[in-house]
Amino acid sequence: METLMFRKMVLLVLIMVIMMGNIANSKLHNVGGSRISWNPNVNFIQWSIHQHFHVADWLYFGYGEKYYSVLEVNKTSYKKCVDTGFIKNVTGGAGRDVFELKEAKTYYFMSGGGFCWQGLKVVIKVIQHVAPPPQHVSSESKSASDFCQVNQTLVMLILVFIWGILFK
Ligand SMILES: *[C@@H]1O[C@H](CO)[C@@H](O)[C@H](O)[C@H]1NC(C)=O
Ligand SMILES: *[C@@H]1O[C@H](CO)[C@@H](O)[C@H](O)[C@H]1NC(C)=O
Ligand SMILES: *[C@@H]1O[C@H](CO)[C@@H](O)[C@H](O)[C@H]1NC(C)=O
Repeated sequence: METLMFRKMVLLVLIMVIMMGNIANSKLHNVGGSRISWNPNVNFIQWSIHQHFHVADWLYFGYGEKYYSVLEVNKTSYKKCVDTGFIKNVTGGAGRDVFELKEAKTYYFMSGGGFCWQGLKVVIKVIQHVAPPPQHVSSESKSASDFCQVNQTLVMLILVFIWGILFK
């Protein structure tokens, strides 16, 4: 009975470590720099210059004005502040919108309601997490970085396998 408890504990710790690794890998960016900075008074170009957006990161749009919104649009619509034919309406209604950056590409966001004309729009350039260049890494550290990049499917399979051994 006690061994079973111990085994469960070990498994729980393993799962937690893996999940923490996952969270540490993706970042949440407050658009504009703070929790409530989705508004026309913020210089979004200045803000985004100093940010590094990676695949699997998240954006947070926080605002108190109920007439603001968050629309994902294409480059043309971004430039011309066109709020029809958008790609995605990210607006949830509570002034706390989140968006996952799933691809390495340039995303364009703007507010509807005419606020885009006042500057409520932002460009987000997303890049892939880069692996260290192979020629500059010793074979030891290279295998370590390879190990860190083992994919999640594999990790889950290993977990299920361990689970099977412990609880058969
Ligand atoms: C961008 O979206 C607008 C609005 O839907 C559309 O009219 C336009 O053709 C699109 N432009 C490109 C390059 O996809
Ligand atoms: C986007 O969604 C919000 C909340 O559902 C809605 O109030 C708003 O009118 C939508 N915006 C557009 C341009 O459709
Ligand atoms: C992850 O590993 C599984 C099993 O080895 C493999 O089938 C899958 O293609 C891998 N996925 C990626 C993204 O490497």
